[in-house]
Amino acid sequence: MSNAANGTAPGAGPSPGDRPIRAHVTGWGRYVPSQVLTNADLEKMVDTNDEWITERTGIKTRHIAEPGAANSDLCLEAARIALDDAGVDPAELDIVIVGTLTPDMPFPATACFLQAKIGATRAYGMDLSAACSGFVYSLSVADALIRAGRGKKALVVGAEILSSVVDYTDRSTCILFGDGAGAAVLTECPEGDGVLSCHLHSDGNLWKLIYCPGGGTLHPYSPEMVEQRLRFIRMAGNETFKHAVLRMVEVSNEALTRNGVTIDDVKLFIPHQANLRIIQVVGKRLGIPEERVFVDLEKYGNTSAASIPIALAEAKAQGRFAAGDLVLVVAFGGGLTWASALMRM
Ligand code: UT7
Repeated sequence: MSNAANGTAPGAGPSPGDRPIRAHVTGWGRYVPSQVLTNADLEKMVDTNDEWITERTGIKTRHIAEPGAANSDLCLEAARIALDDAGVDPAELDIVIVGTLTPDMPFPATACFLQAKIGATRAYGMDLSAACSGFVYSLSVADALIRAGRGKKALVVGAEILSSVVDYTDRSTCILFGDGAGAAVLTECPEGDGVLSCHLHSDGNLWKLIYCPGGGTLHPYSPEMVEQRLRFIRMAGNETFKHAVLRMVEVSNEALTRNGVTIDDVKLFIPHQANLRIIQVVGKRLGIPEERVFVDLEKYGNTSAASIPIALAEAKAQGRFAAGDLVLVVAFGGGLTWASALMRM
């Protein structure tokens, strides 16, 4: 089961060159809550240690939202910075998309809460559920809507409060995840730069590798559901690891081939920040030197849909890419889902 957006597979959008319009990312923003959960803190909560976590994952700290914080609060902070960076007033926005697996509520969409909080009065808003691939999927949808003339300015956010669905008695998962938000502003631009192509895939047969069983229609909230710990993330880490490597390499190559470029043309490679070992293997298989692979997971852990936009905003702040550079982002997560996007900044 696979699909592509603006790619070569069936159902693909227009090829580069078919239309005079593209979406260009004109602003980036990131926000993480101030509270930090260290490996030393986790040592007091579960049977683990800093050495194991560092060696197996590369993670040192993660940020955790305050009790009572809503996902849209995190979105708001990141979005304000991105809009400021882009010089776009919220009232100019046509589209608001939030990629998340931890929305404020089942409905309305977190994007609608964000729209109200930020004053994007004329925009339409929706959430997109693609787990850790949520931001790249959302970027692709916003890009396609702009190309199709359904809006000129979009706010795309990846945001999570994963601490709300993490089982802090399960050492195999609780060491991994953190909270945060990253945002991008997409603006209609002439052909030639911006989002060059996006490539989206999923395989629902592998849903059991990483999922959260409770809180939906299958296991609605109930005392039994809570007692059986169904409201927490479950993951077959080892198996997920193998698929992550395979698919991230594959979908990265898909983006390169589609655009007639090689990995040597890519200034910065930004992979989903799930595990340093995954990132290193993927980088090696693609043949890209370490200095052109962006890593910030030691500070934030795996923030799911927020991981790539936080990394992009951080990379921009560090001057890791400049106008005209090619940046390749690649995501992988529950679903399973995986996706890439190649952008000329
Ligand atoms: O974002 C969505 C995509 N997610 C991913 O891509 C995550 C992919 N998976 C991973 O990152 C890694 O599989 C993990 C970090 C989750 C686990 O690392 P691993 O090297 O695959 O370890 P493992 O699950 O094979 O476990 C090895 C050992 C086991 O002990 P035994 O059976 O060998 O005695 C685990 O019980 O490590 C043990 N273990 C731990 N030990 C100390 C598992 N978690 C911990 C822990 N501290 N936190």
